[in-house]
Amino acid sequence: MNDGLPALHHQVMIGAVPIPGNIFLAPLAGYTDRVFRSICRDFGADFTYSEMVSAEGVARESAKTDPLMRRGSNEDLFAIQLFMGDVDPVKRCLDRLLTFSPTVIDINCGCPVPKVVKIGAGSQLMRSPDKLYEIVSYITGSCSVPVSVKFRLGWDQDAISWKRTADAALEGGASMLTMHSRTRAQGYAGKADWLQIRALKQWVSEKAPSIPVFGSGDLFTAEDAKVMILTTGVDGVMFARGAIGNPFVFREAKALLDGAPVPAPPSIAERKQVIVRHLIQLAEDIGENAACREMRKHVCAYLKGVPFAGPVKQAVVQATSIDMYLKALGQLPEA
Ligand SMILES: Cc1cc2nc3c(=O)[nH]c(=O)nc-3n(C[C@H](O)[C@H](O)[C@H](O)COP(=O)(O)O)c2cc1C
Repeated sequence: MNDGLPALHHQVMIGAVPIPGNIFLAPLAGYTDRVFRSICRDFGADFTYSEMVSAEGVARESAKTDPLMRRGSNEDLFAIQLFMGDVDPVKRCLDRLLTFSPTVIDINCGCPVPKVVKIGAGSQLMRSPDKLYEIVSYITGSCSVPVSVKFRLGWDQDAISWKRTADAALEGGASMLTMHSRTRAQGYAGKADWLQIRALKQWVSEKAPSIPVFGSGDLFTAEDAKVMILTTGVDGVMFARGAIGNPFVFREAKALLDGAPVPAPPSIAERKQVIVRHLIQLAEDIGENAACREMRKHVCAYLKGVPFAGPVKQAVVQATSIDMYLKALGQLPEA
């Protein structure tokens, strides 16, 4: 136990849905497909999010969006994150979205990418709280799936707007809020401002004490998760870049927050085992060739800091088959 402290790893309610723990995998476009999410679940992530999915794409039955919304075999619970510039595509996509049975529908108010903000979506939605309210209230009024909203501090340092974003989401009936404590202008650079996460938690506690607030930003180790919970009072954390190449962080965070002994970092043999699982499952999903291309960035992340991994990373960049990957990985020491 945590020396008399309240339990740090605990169930959270998102609307009427109990989620068994409060250590989540954040949405990460280009990374959190169902294979990676499944691996994170197996290592202890309590809840996972799809990559962001275009509401317009879902409405138009775009071939690109369906695979993003399929769940992994161990994902009894998972959220689909949508991005949109206004309520119109949501009205057209909701029935189809519901056929994928998301546990939670999350609204993206944080994406900084120009082609997303150009349509009024992502961080741009923080500048239009009325639209956000309309989107959230439309979904909450049309189905029983709880809605969560993930946002940033604001557009830039001169336009910090998390309070009105949180208010719009809550007034629309959102059941959970997550803040990535950087501005849109910061992108992913600079330090995340956890004091603002603490302020958000206090803000929401006064208005809607039953609504869980999650923190995101600069969570790279199990210790980071513990410190964020203790210093900000948030109900839970979302690992993002800290989980890329490191799904092991979930078992470490879970042990630390449970007050149990923290497992040793993964051996090289275990890293290899997880890489091979990742690659094979991805090949089953998207084909061997595409999986080999897609895995390059993951392998570089899995092998970050591993001694003598340079030649393996170089070989993997050229690899076009599972056999070539296995041969490359065979160069790694076993220990
Ligand atoms: C490559 C990448 C893709 C991301 N994709 C999404 C996304 O699809 N939806 C979203 O809400 N946030 C997305 N994010 C933001 C993360 O979920 C997270 O809030 C952010 O990285 C801050 O956490 P960190 O500093 O611990 O990485 C993405 C971040 C990165 C680095």
